Amino acid sequence: MNVAEKISKLKKQKNAIILAHYYQVPEIQDVADYVGDSLGLSQSALETQASIIVFAGVHFMAETAKILNPAKKVLIPDMNAGCSLADSCPPDKFKTFKEQHQDHIVISYINCSAEIKVLSDVICTSSNAIKIVESIPKEQKIIFAPDKNLGGYINNITGRKMILWNGSCEVHDVIKAEEIIRLKAENPDAQLIAHPECQAVVLEMADYIGSTTGLLDYTIKSTHQKFIVATESGILHQMRKSSPKKEFLIVPTDEKCSCNDCPYMKMNTLEKLYNCLLMEQPELKLSADVIEKAKNPILRMLELSK
Ligand code: 13P
Ligand code: SF4
Repeated sequence: MNVAEKISKLKKQKNAIILAHYYQVPEIQDVADYVGDSLGLSQSALETQASIIVFAGVHFMAETAKILNPAKKVLIPDMNAGCSLADSCPPDKFKTFKEQHQDHIVISYINCSAEIKVLSDVICTSSNAIKIVESIPKEQKIIFAPDKNLGGYINNITGRKMILWNGSCEVHDVIKAEEIIRLKAENPDAQLIAHPECQAVVLEMADYIGSTTGLLDYTIKSTHQKFIVATESGILHQMRKSSPKKEFLIVPTDEKCSCNDCPYMKMNTLEKLYNCLLMEQPELKLSADVIEKAKNPILRMLELSK
């Protein structure tokens, strides 16, 4: 048996479910029971009947699964798979910032630690951020954390003036407008599709902006045949599977690199996934207190996303 077959067998024996984000390596996406964006993964984690959730993604995603479904054993192939965006918002500094703006509520992007979720009133993902912000009365002052690019994009679309925490994702924030301009000139028939974690200068040029699921769906439904994809390269696997005849170009970050890999997402490997399912570790654990306090803003988001 190869590793993928061993994982499938073990998964059945242990009544485990494998949830994978689109930025995982193709081999992991192919053994997963569900592949999706942060919102879809959270909903799957909440609804699953399995005893074990193996979360092939990054730390904050596994934390969210544990918060939503604390009775399950939540495993993550590599406990060091963090997120530069979540790390850009340390809870002690954010707490002080929040205290300085006591008349504001806090909307946090799901890409943040459980401690930041505890300090938040409502969570959002890139697929429901505009809907969540628009559900808040116009006169209510808002702090948006931790992604300044997503927050700026929402401000532009909604006309709100949310105060933005100065955080960003090291993968999306380095996608360069010059490279896109060059690719567009070389491929005038291509559409530019971008994740809202990209800088405003990139988003201004985009034909479509959306979460990873949004981007994938757009490429499936569109009659265009070529796409310049401004996000992490892992999403190309499902795009190519769904539309084998269409062409997908990832935006190079510089002349030496032709790919946008998230170093944290790519810490997970098929081998690590197998070992983690076999040994049932590393296991993600959170205190009952954090789970209790972080749950409400996430449930509020899920309610508002219906
Ligand atoms: P999505 O919710 O769009 O999948 O985004 C997750 C992420 O980490 C983007 O960098
Ligand atoms: Fe975090 Fe960026 Fe990686 Fe997404 S792509 S997990 S935001 S570092």
